Amino acid sequence: MDDTTKLAPPAVLAAIERDSAAAGFSMASEARMGALLRTLAAAKPRGAFLELGTGTGISSTWILAGMDAASTLISVESDPGYAAIAKRHLGHDGRVEFHIEDGAAFLAKLRGRRFDLIFADTWPGKFDHLDDALELLNAGGFYVIDDMLPQPNWPDNHAPKVGALITKLEHRPDLTLCKLAWASGIIVAVRCG
Ligand SMILES: C[S@@+](CC[C@H](N)C(=O)[O-])C[C@H]1O[C@@H](n2cnc3c(N)ncnc32)[C@H](O)[C@@H]1O
Repeated sequence: MDDTTKLAPPAVLAAIERDSAAAGFSMASEARMGALLRTLAAAKPRGAFLELGTGTGISSTWILAGMDAASTLISVESDPGYAAIAKRHLGHDGRVEFHIEDGAAFLAKLRGRRFDLIFADTWPGKFDHLDDALELLNAGGFYVIDDMLPQPNWPDNHAPKVGALITKLEHRPDLTLCKLAWASGIIVAVRCG
């Protein structure tokens, strides 16, 4: 098996990647992660999806590709320039809402809502405000993160933060965890109560 070929990326992805490169955006999730997100999204018909850290919409593209017509995606990004690229290419899709806001403030506004999949791809909801994000997860819902293996763009002293996050997740009695030392290093957790 070659897990890097025949991923059948969504048609719009190439144009978003071109605009992302022109904007100097280099933090996107890789295609294998996209394929995983698309697959997990497909597992939740009529699902409610949340993405923390839209970037330019590359991972949103994959999530949308797995969603059925009755599913919805809410995505938040603090950088208006990056979010504008996502909106330009994906904003016509009535299933998705893009918000330009700090993720921590946005998580506070979502209190009381429930989601079937949360892709936490920025600081809030991952390295900070983790409990706020997990609180929003439905029973049976997926909490997904990547970049858990050392990456060239990790800031200084990032490794201990990654270790601490993994330990926190491992100690949550309400999560069933699968750690995948694959692609950029992925954790898929499912809320089991
Ligand atoms: C790893 S990138 C997201 C990549 C995107 N999910 C993808 O795979 O294509 C993280 C994003 O979080 C954004 N960000 C940083 N701090 C944030 C915050 N406090 N709230 C919301 N977004 C933030 C950055 O501007 C960046 O676009």
